[in-house]
Amino acid sequence: MAAAAAAASGAVSSSTLLWVILLVAVGGSPYLPHATAAPSTNAAAARDVTLRVDRRQAMACAHVQVVVDNGFVQVTLTKPEGHITGVRYNGERNNSCNTPPARATRQGTGMWLDATELRIINSSKEQVELSFRSTYNPSRKDSVRLNVDKRLVMLKGSSGFYCYAIFEHTSSWPALNVSEARLAFKLNADKFNYMAISDDIQRYMPSAADRDAPLAASLTYKEVVLLFKGEVDDKYQYSLDKKDNAVHGWISATAGGSFTGFWVITLSNDFKSGGLTKRELTSHVGPTCLTIGDDIVLNVGDGEY
Ligand SMILES: *[C@@H]1O[C@H](CO)[C@@H](O)[C@H](O)[C@H]1NC(C)=O
Ligand SMILES: *[C@@H]1O[C@H](CO)[C@@H](O)[C@H](O)[C@H]1NC(C)=O
Ligand SMILES: *[C@@H]1O[C@H](CO)[C@@H](O)[C@H](O)[C@H]1NC(C)=O
Repeated sequence: MAAAAAAASGAVSSSTLLWVILLVAVGGSPYLPHATAAPSTNAAAARDVTLRVDRRQAMACAHVQVVVDNGFVQVTLTKPEGHITGVRYNGERNNSCNTPPARATRQGTGMWLDATELRIINSSKEQVELSFRSTYNPSRKDSVRLNVDKRLVMLKGSSGFYCYAIFEHTSSWPALNVSEARLAFKLNADKFNYMAISDDIQRYMPSAADRDAPLAASLTYKEVVLLFKGEVDDKYQYSLDKKDNAVHGWISATAGGSFTGFWVITLSNDFKSGGLTKRELTSHVGPTCLTIGDDIVLNVGDGEY
């Protein structure tokens, strides 16, 4: 992870996390595809990338959303927070949703990185790039001690989109530990039932409901349960060494013979610390799809840029 190097040497100015989220449809095949795919580019049929800002009135409060669409994929985000609230592929409804966790108020526990400002970096026909920024506010006790810039990029003709984030800590700010930074997608539970994290680790998965009582019994810690079938489910069973975690995700393999995939592709291991043999979560019951960059704790010192 670039930031780990920064913490050690003070030489690198910011940390960048980069992922691509890919959606693919596989029509009519009786077999489930292996977990490998490349972004499809079909320039001839491709539509220009469009950007739309909608103002929605829900109950008493106005809610603004941004919609980025290239004809293959449509991503909806809240403005200015930058939460992905919907992903549609080929006009299908809402394949996934990026759900806010319970809000934490103390430094050192989980924080949802809400942005306060949207900047449009690019809105050409070929490429839309959005920046959702927040800045550290020292007068607020629960403010994350970082400038955070969450980016979304969509290219013309591509059946996916890119996500990355830039974290900046200036030399006048107090110390901070970042144990984990992640982007998590909750997929549509009615559709995504087959999970693949590598060529030889893939299967139909239990559902989130299968993990609840009375269908399952809790075991030693909350992540691990004994399912009705006698099988143990634990998301850590699906961890991979970082060097092997290139593509993972879910396939919607329901009746009708047309399959849709939701894949997280990690383009580079540069942002990941702990070494190539550090294991990390991939996908798990939910259906949940994670992208995690962590350190064996990133320590940023007082006044460290
Ligand atoms: C997508 O579905 C989720 C869960 O049902 C819902 O919370 C979200 O508002 C939907 N988003 C859009 C853009 O329809
Ligand atoms: C915007 O997108 C176009 C087309 O891909 C590209 O040529 C240009 O360099 C981009 N500009 C910025 C500021 O990213
Ligand atoms: C960061 O973690 C270290 C232990 O690794 C601890 O000594 C330090 O107090 C922590 N700093 C903050 C700001 O929480």
